[in-house]
Amino acid sequence: QTFEIAVLVGSLRKGALTRTLANALTKLAPENLRFTFIEIGDLPLYNPDLDTETPPAAWVRLRNEITQADGVMFVTPEYNRALPAALKNALDVGSRPYGSNVWGGKPGLVVSGSGGALGGYGANHHLRDTLVVLDVPTLSQPEAYVGHLGTLFDQTGAPNTDETKAYLSKIMTAYAAWVGKLAA
Ligand code: FNR
Repeated sequence: QTFEIAVLVGSLRKGALTRTLANALTKLAPENLRFTFIEIGDLPLYNPDLDTETPPAAWVRLRNEITQADGVMFVTPEYNRALPAALKNALDVGSRPYGSNVWGGKPGLVVSGSGGALGGYGANHHLRDTLVVLDVPTLSQPEAYVGHLGTLFDQTGAPNTDETKAYLSKIMTAYAAWVGKLAA
């Protein structure tokens, strides 16, 4: 069975290392997972006053894309020890109006990354906190804190060692099994 996975990258930067990481992860995933990268940079900041019968078009687009997905995969940097505001905003937009949470029940994957050694641990766990209330059953193991992002990929964006490749593949194999268990 094939599953459609929505990918949300926490960095809006064109040359984002976390986007390189997300691309590499999707390429190493088992073939029954199909990926769509979801734009989050164009979402107006969540404001309940705008959530009328005609909410902002970008909100409607995000909500439809997540509704159609079988699973949600988050690849994010850490901003000041937490998740970037753009990603939090996307989560907020998809969680409302009250009673119409589009994230609920979608098997989730959280991968955090940083240029330094800590691998975005703080962002990873802040994100996991929010996924609890959004009712996203998130893969527990393996946890994925990817440090030293600037050293892991070659110019084409492929992992530059077998060790990195095996590590990223292991994450995606576990996620595919998780999706298979919960989304079927
Ligand atoms: C950062 N960065 C950062 N890194 C980290 O490990 N812990 C942190 O708390 C922060 N805080 C932070 C705040 C802000 C506002 C910015 C812009 C950056 C550095 C960041 O993780 C690093 O630059 C990553 O390479 C950013 O990811 P992308 O954009 O390359 O995907």
